[in-house]
Amino acid sequence: MIEQVIKIVRNASKLMTTDITIEQKGNESNFVTSADVNVQLYLEEQLISLVPNSTFLGEESVHGASEGEYIWVVDPIDGTANFIRGLGTSVISVGLVKNGKPYLGVIYDPYKNEMFYAERGKGAFLNGKQIHVSERDFRHSIICSAASQYDKTLAQPCFNILQKIFYQADDFRRFGAAAIEMAYLAAGRIELFFEIRLFPWDMAAGAVIIEEAGGMIEYLYEEELPLNRPAGIIVANNKTNHETIKRIVYGELIEKPY
Ligand code: IPD
Ligand code: CA
Ligand code: CA
Repeated sequence: MIEQVIKIVRNASKLMTTDITIEQKGNESNFVTSADVNVQLYLEEQLISLVPNSTFLGEESVHGASEGEYIWVVDPIDGTANFIRGLGTSVISVGLVKNGKPYLGVIYDPYKNEMFYAERGKGAFLNGKQIHVSERDFRHSIICSAASQYDKTLAQPCFNILQKIFYQADDFRRFGAAAIEMAYLAAGRIELFFEIRLFPWDMAAGAVIIEEAGGMIEYLYEEELPLNRPAGIIVANNKTNHETIKRIVYGELIEKPY
């Protein structure tokens, strides 16, 4: 089935054209373009017919499913601000959640023609080659992180956490698309990832790809990936680094932040 999902995602990326209309949604940092909507509509139609009785939760849905045996959890364009600005760092992220757990993930960067994908128990791949997390220790790690630009009341603890990590690790990056940062962690290009508030469509695909590549994930104050509300996520390439980043994050966020 993953081959068919990959084909559908590749076709959907043709709808990421530059001829777009742009609308503000919610707060002043948040936009939706006609391409986000067109990609989602195409994916919804194709994916639903691929798995009988599956349901669909997409970022641009008015009503998304959060229950059912098979749920497609989709961000049609992750990195919409990058897309609008022509920064060339935006991806399509398609996850399939099976009985409440991320089961399959496909993340496609059409600018670099990089297709990251994984199915539970079968390993993680980039353009057909198996990928693994890196072996770097904390001191030599790069973290990707952000400061909750859609809800800046949560920004200060993010900066405090990033500052602490920066002094103990190598450096930080911000690509402006959570899914691509998760894919990069799986491919061994970065080692640490933390965001205080993401939605299931930002994380569902990346979660499977990271775990299949040997990485470790914890959702902030949550047992599993919640499908009906935002959550934080703490990721590392190995157990030791995960323990270290978790100590720093929970040391700053001594209670659930929202
Ligand atoms: C956003 C990006 C960004 C992350 C935000 C997300 P969008 O998704 O992944 O990197 O920091 O929290 O909401 O709005 O571009 O789909
Ligand atoms: Ca997103
Ligand atoms: Ca999006």
